[in-house]
Amino acid sequence: MKLVHTIQELRAELDIQRQAGKKIGLVPTMGALHEGHASLVRRAVAENDVVVVSDFVNPTQFNDKNDLLKYPRTLEADCELLEKEGAAYVFAPSVEEVYPEPDTRQFSYAPLDTVMEGKYRPGHFNGVCQIVSKLFMMVEPDKAYFGEKDFQQLAIIREMVKQMQFPLQIVGCPIVREADGLALSSRNARLSDEQRQQALNISRTLFQSKEYAASHTVAETQQFVEDAIAASEGLELEYFELVDGMTLQKISGWEDTDYAVGCITVYCGEVRLIDNIKYKESC
Ligand code: PAF
Repeated sequence: MKLVHTIQELRAELDIQRQAGKKIGLVPTMGALHEGHASLVRRAVAENDVVVVSDFVNPTQFNDKNDLLKYPRTLEADCELLEKEGAAYVFAPSVEEVYPEPDTRQFSYAPLDTVMEGKYRPGHFNGVCQIVSKLFMMVEPDKAYFGEKDFQQLAIIREMVKQMQFPLQIVGCPIVREADGLALSSRNARLSDEQRQQALNISRTLFQSKEYAASHTVAETQQFVEDAIAASEGLELEYFELVDGMTLQKISGWEDTDYAVGCITVYCGEVRLIDNIKYKESC
């Protein structure tokens, strides 16, 4: 495995691989890797000849500068994990390498990017599209892998790829959870032991709400989740929305869609955690 810091070196390496007819898979990450990332890398390794993992904390997607400062940076440990999982390249550029000048491009995929995270984190998805489109242009992958935990991000990236006609396939991968249900996230490292226990009520509530939803309306299910989180010590709900999984617009009845997803964001102390669950899934 090679650790590469510059775009020039990355392109030179990948040109050779492409000329040899190799299929390239990309797993974009912000580092602080955990088993969720490892599962993306494993899938990419199984489906491609060469896997590139980008490890870059992208400043343009943080609307809260404090969040950016506190974001864990663990390149050495990340490289150990990636070597074990069979990645060929780790691309860990500096901020200056990626943004030699400010990126003034504006991406707008309304209404996908104006709801939920888009509403509470203005500019976040613009920053995500800036970095992901740059990575697509630098790596020119055949396939790129993203986790479904960031459900809205995945929908927006799919739309960007469609509108910009990037010649690649986006592969969405299921959420990876701890044995007790907590969705894996780099932010979990910031939870104290007590908060870690409190955060469990997020996935627990989502799982319970899925059973509840089988015999209750959308409005009742919404209320069920809101009440359960309000009653959970240490948790503060930012939003819970029941949406159509394609349009990300709110549904008012289960019959409105054959792909119903509940997306939630909860503060556990200062740590902002997101999760989601599928109530109905089209195949
Ligand atoms: O999901 C993430 O970790 C980031 O948003 C991504 C896609 C790597 C872009 O920085």
